[in-house]
Parts: sequence; C-alpha cells; structure tokens
Amino acid sequence: VKVIVVKDYAELSKKAALFVVEEITKKPDLVLGLATGNTPLGMYQELVRLFQKGKVDFSKVVTFNLDEYVGLSPEDKNSYHYYMFENFFKHINIPPENIHIPNGIADDIEEECRSYDEEILKYERIDLQILGIGINGHIGFNEPGDELITSTHVTELSEETRKANSKFFENPDEVPRFAITMGLGTIMKARKILLLASGREKAKIIAEFLGEESVSTKVPASFLLIHPDVTCIIDEEAAQLIK
Ligand code: F6R
Repeated sequence: VKVIVVKDYAELSKKAALFVVEEITKKPDLVLGLATGNTPLGMYQELVRLFQKGKVDFSKVVTFNLDEYVGLSPEDKNSYHYYMFENFFKHINIPPENIHIPNGIADDIEEECRSYDEEILKYERIDLQILGIGINGHIGFNEPGDELITSTHVTELSEETRKANSKFFENPDEVPRFAITMGLGTIMKARKILLLASGREKAKIIAEFLGEESVSTKVPASFLLIHPDVTCIIDEEAAQLIK
C-alpha cells in the first residue's frame, strides 16, 4: 500500500482528482468505481472544475458505484443516485448509459445484485476503484463480521454506520437499515484502488488498518493490504496516529 499524506482536505481533493484524470488520460474508456459519502465530495468538485477547464473528457468513461440504500428511490435526496447526479454526473459529459448505480427499489433485489455483477463482468473488471473508509473499517458497505461476501449483495448496516450516516438525514430513524453493496471480491479484483481518508475521526481506523499484519473480516479494509496496487491519500488529521 502506498500512503500519501497531504496537508488538508483541499489538498486531498486536488490530488485525488488529478489521480483520476491521469488514469482517464491513459485509458479514456476507464471503468471507474465510485464512492459516495463526505470524503470524495471535494474530489468530485475538483473533477468538475478540471472538466470545465477542458482537462478531462468523460465521454467514454464507464462508472460503477459501490452502493445504494435499499428502499430509497433515485429521486430521494438521500439516495446515492441523487448524490452522484447532483455532485458529479450532471456537471460532466458522461453518457447516461455509462453510469451504473445499484437500484435500491428494484422489485427483485437479489436479481438486481446478480445483474449488477454481470454488468461489471462485461467490462471484465474495474480499472480504478475509489474508496472511502468507515470508522469501523468498512469499505463499500462490507461491514465487519465473521465473513465477508465476495459479490454484490444486500447488507444490514451496522448501528455505527447508520449513526455516522445520519448526519445526512433530518431524522436519524430515517437512515435505511439495508444497502446493496459491491462485495469484497469485486473490489479486490479492481486493477487499482484509491482510498481517501480525511479528518481526525478516521485517524484510529487508518492507523489500525495500515498497522495490521494479517487480514481480518473484522477490519474489511485490511484486505487492501494484500492487493497489488493500492494508494491511500490521507490528510494530516487522519494520518496522525500512523506509527
Ligand atoms: C460510500 C461508501 C462508504 C463510505 C464510508 C465513509 O459509497 O461506500 O464505505 O466511503 O462510509 O464515508 P464518509 O466519507 O462519509 O466518511
């Protein structure tokens, strides 16, 4: 794992965006795995800015989002569909048919998970996967547990995760209990992974996962230690406990 420590969130966002642009420049039809949440917001803003300046072309890029809440429609302001279009897709030139986000209101959720994996397989694998990290070490919504599931599946969100995500909801009870998430297998098959972490609330888990000497389903992010091409861009606050 390559660790790059930057001064602050602004620098993290710029560096992450440049990392993505470089990959798209090398491979214009990049298959890009995307995350939501607080951490990549600045990166999306920066990518939009670079697009507006003509520095990057998304016309051939294909995207797959990591996850979506079960039960929220794409129009719901708390859905990851809504987040992705508002913060990124509606500002760039990606063709709508190249965008993939699990459908949280599919009639047959199991089938939705299966077809999501099939769609990814059409491209063989993800070229660059962007990840955030949960304070409990989750990546995507692969929560700590006795086992981790390899393919796209429905997962029950931990209380910790629901609490962390409640900041986006008016009422904490509204945070959905279940989400569709890409599995660890799909994430680990990505050619390259870029993990972003910012702020002091991530310091403990960052130090813990980078310091692991074994992989453990109790810390899903620890699996990144055995992936051949992972870069972590971490700001000083999140890096402060790394030994
Ligand atoms: C979001 C996702 C999650 C988040 C993680 C960190 O698509 O897959 O794993 O990356 O929960 O969230 P923030 O960035 O809000 O701290």
